[in-house]
Amino acid sequence: MLLRLPGVYPPQEDTWLLAETLAAESLGPRSRVLDICAGTGALSLCAAAAGAGHVTAIDISRRALATTWINARLRRRPVHVVRGNLTTPVRGRRFDVIVSNPPYVPAREDVLPTRGIERAWDAGVDGRMLLDRICATAPALLAPSGVLLIAQSVLSGVEKTQSMLEEQGLSVEIAARAEIPFGRVLSARVALFEARGLIKRGQRTEEIVVIRAVS
Ligand SMILES: C[S@@+](CC[C@H](N)C(=O)[O-])C[C@H]1O[C@@H](n2cnc3c(N)ncnc32)[C@H](O)[C@@H]1O
Repeated sequence: MLLRLPGVYPPQEDTWLLAETLAAESLGPRSRVLDICAGTGALSLCAAAAGAGHVTAIDISRRALATTWINARLRRRPVHVVRGNLTTPVRGRRFDVIVSNPPYVPAREDVLPTRGIERAWDAGVDGRMLLDRICATAPALLAPSGVLLIAQSVLSGVEKTQSMLEEQGLSVEIAARAEIPFGRVLSARVALFEARGLIKRGQRTEEIVVIRAVS
């Protein structure tokens, strides 16, 4: 059971799909893992529990980082928490595994929220405002043979993620898929998604995927 301060994203299907994929990676005391958009720290804790000796968790939200810090201390896990914008705080460092479950839900406008829990999912009109920045900057942080794991919805353009990572020389595959019912946030955007042609009429599920890219 994870502690969660108000306003912090509760781990859910995308978190657990990513956690399963992360658990299949080989991690040991020398493994350096970076969790971008850490939230409660669920994925950082999975990495630490799987044996990773050095885990760094980044989030822009103070409450999320406090939550990650508390959850790691309660379990005596070696998670280093850093507040910042995506990969900016760790520029120049190298990691064996980078995991990220970023905001990826298409929104009404291209303005990211600066506060509130919406910051955990809203990602601009195409849902890619954060995904594009992660795809552009994370590959340079990978150690040789390093692995990048990203969760996203098919509503936010899986092919673009794949092509951005392939253009930087990574080998890319879809490591996991799950069809999940719309929750509260997507249900409230059905008309918007239908109008944009993102979903079929009557569609009330989305597919989420985990993209695995190796340097
Ligand atoms: C979908 S939640 C994922 C949380 C957790 N990793 C999980 O899977 O349960 C996305 C997280 O990204 C954080 N976030 C949003 N914008 C960010 C940014 N520019 N830099 C770092 N973190 C950001 C939010 O605060 C939120 O905690």
